[in-house]
Amino acid sequence: MKRSAPIVVSTVIILVLGIALIATLLFINNQPAPTRGITPLVQIAQMEADSHRWAVNYPNQYASLVQTAENAQRTAYGGSLPYSKLENDPRLVTLFAGYGFSIEYNEDRGHLNSLTDVREIKRVNEKTAGTCYSCKSSNNPGLWAEMGMAEYDRTLFSELGKHIDQPIGCANCHDAETMALIVTNPALEEALEAQGKDWRTFTRQEMRTVVCANCHVEYYFAGEGAYLTFPWKKGTRVEDISSYYAELEFKDWVHPDSGAAMIKMQHPEYELFTAGSTHYNAGVACADCHMPYTRDGAAKYSSHNVRSPLLDPEPACGACHTDVKYVVERVGIIQDQVWETMDATEEALVAAIETIKTSAEAPGVDQTLLEEARSLHREAQLRWDFIAAENSMGFHNPEEALRILASATDLARQAQLKAFQAAGSPGGQQAALP
Ligand code: HEC
Ligand code: HEC
Ligand code: HEC
Ligand code: HEC
Repeated sequence: MKRSAPIVVSTVIILVLGIALIATLLFINNQPAPTRGITPLVQIAQMEADSHRWAVNYPNQYASLVQTAENAQRTAYGGSLPYSKLENDPRLVTLFAGYGFSIEYNEDRGHLNSLTDVREIKRVNEKTAGTCYSCKSSNNPGLWAEMGMAEYDRTLFSELGKHIDQPIGCANCHDAETMALIVTNPALEEALEAQGKDWRTFTRQEMRTVVCANCHVEYYFAGEGAYLTFPWKKGTRVEDISSYYAELEFKDWVHPDSGAAMIKMQHPEYELFTAGSTHYNAGVACADCHMPYTRDGAAKYSSHNVRSPLLDPEPACGACHTDVKYVVERVGIIQDQVWETMDATEEALVAAIETIKTSAEAPGVDQTLLEEARSLHREAQLRWDFIAAENSMGFHNPEEALRILASATDLARQAQLKAFQAAGSPGGQQAALP
């Protein structure tokens, strides 16, 4: 017995080592193949609407997205406090007379509020098209795939709303499998296609801007089915957009005082920024300023707390500018200058509207000249609104903003002059002098 003890002990040791080796090999064999970047913890379904489900894999991105619900600070011209733009500047009530925006028009706020805010807008009624949900929910990519955009847009807002329970979320910007940035809005896909562009060939830096163009663009509802369309066929400059609408003889509403067929511009951030701005030409993307890199211990991630960079300029501007205080001051100077110029444009527009209205009531008014005055009013206000509805008070492209406002003021004064001429008033006679 005594002699066999070492044999038993070594057999046991060999057996234990053998089992341990087999177990280790099995364990290694059953590990997932090495991947680049973060290893997914859970499988996320394609177009998963619920951002909370993505949160398990990407807690920092999710937590920062959630912060967009809480921002409530105002800046000089922006910020996240939904104050009334109409109370702030009562001239807008005259400029948008006869249209929903003269009833309610509020400052925008963070992405997570999108669904609550669209449902509370007073401009929404029983006839409102489902299209209005296009930029408000992460349910959209799934719904577009399921029903097609034409059917989505044709469905009434009230009916479509039954299928929508999420605000803006991960599925609006990312492919769930690869996490790549993608174009999710079929209207953007079609608008790029109309210009002969395919976003699948874009660089990563280009996508960091184009992904915002899913929503931050000028658009209109085409035809009976309210088909979401970006007016980009001729280009994305304000003149291209204006001539596109003119060719189509499109109007959003008729101004009750001037009688002009009007266009309401929506938030054309993408169009203004990409119209040769200094930052765009230097290869800077929307995400560089609005989604700066942030640290969580060793991990670096893009802040998804998208908001005014002025609320925390250090990470937003400091990545490229050493003197952040200086560039932030420059923003203030640029915005004040754009606002002063815009103020003059609004004065000219209100004067044009009043003069056209008075002239239209004058006996023997020249209808041809009056029509010319109306079309000048439309063109002037469309240009002004391109800058007014854009949310950066000109900062995204200061030179372009000032150029457009100068042209808008000129067109508005021409409209007023034509209206004087139409009525044959002293102003008209004066204007006829060389
Ligand atoms: C160089 C930095 C920079 C880039 C690039 C940039 N922005 Fe901005 N953006 C700003 C600043 C500064 C403001 C002004 C914020 C304010 O007035 O509080 C602003 C304002 C905005 C606002 C309004 C914010 C608010 O507080 O209401 C929106 C929306 C916006 N940008 C979207 C975009 C989109 C979309 C792009 C790309 C097409 C873009 N920005 C590119 C710096 C940038
Ligand atoms: C409005 C568009 C938008 C939404 C919504 C959005 N993202 Fe992103 N996300 C971006 C952009 C832009 C980047 C930067 C990508 C790049 O640099 O290539 C990014 C980057 C990322 C990255 C890469 C790592 C990093 O932080 O740079 C991950 C992971 C990610 N997002 C997860 C999410 C998750 C999870 C959600 C939902 C909770 C979400 N994103 C919602 C636009 C968005
Ligand atoms: C799916 C549509 C959608 C996409 C994609 C999107 N946005 Fe927005 N964004 C909105 C809407 C809608 C609002 C206004 C929400 C509200 O006021 O309730 C908004 C608001 C904002 C604001 C104002 C936030 C505040 O607190 O005032 C900024 C800044 C902004 N977006 C920038 C961006 C940038 C930069 C991108 C691209 C990285 C982007 N957005 C992509 C729809 C979108
Ligand atoms: C990704 C890099 C990058 C980021 C981020 C960035 N900028 Fe710039 N900025 C540039 C470049 C490049 C130029 C042009 C070259 C120069 O003048 O330095 C520029 C120029 C400017 C100018 C001068 C513009 C002109 O037309 O003369 C101002 C003002 C400015 N930036 C403000 C800001 C502010 C404010 C922020 C943050 C909200 C910011 N930038 C974020 C790269 C950046």
